[in-house]
Amino acid sequence: MTLTTDELCFVEKYKHITLNDEYLKLKSVPRHGSTNTFDHSVRVAIMASSLSRYMHIDPECAARVGLLHDFCLVDYHKDDKEVHNGRWYCFYHPEDAVINSENEGFYLSDIEKKAIWSHMFPLSTCIPTSRLGYLLTFCDKVVATQESFANIPEGFCRLIPVVNKMRLQAINAITRKN
Ligand SMILES: [Fe+2]
Ligand SMILES: [Fe+2]
Repeated sequence: MTLTTDELCFVEKYKHITLNDEYLKLKSVPRHGSTNTFDHSVRVAIMASSLSRYMHIDPECAARVGLLHDFCLVDYHKDDKEVHNGRWYCFYHPEDAVINSENEGFYLSDIEKKAIWSHMFPLSTCIPTSRLGYLLTFCDKVVATQESFANIPEGFCRLIPVVNKMRLQAINAITRKN
């Protein structure tokens, strides 16, 4: 999945975050089988900021937590047990996201930090305590589901030659018998 023109405009609007050298490294961290963490975060931020007005939430806060919620440079496909003392990625990456954001000078209010810490709910034990927290966890799950299913058609396309080969082998086997 690649970003659309509208999504790229959003990236441009928030370039104080999206052009940060450390943040740009998220482009090389894969996510959900069809995308990378940079693009995923942009999609979550856009959805959160568009829905924020229905929940009386500041769209800038929603965009910020969306962009920063997965700011963790660990690729969860690789073994990282030594780096985080054997903890699971779903538990530590929200904490890393807040630490990395602050290290790069991105200010986060207490409510924004709590929203990021709890965005894996109910997979983690940290429960959202604000509308912003529930909005972020909801948008993250919707976008993650969309991204996880995005490569299914591509998977089917890759299966077609395999199925055709099996069909040919079966036909050959039957015609040889006759
Ligand atoms: Fe996450
Ligand atoms: Fe996420």
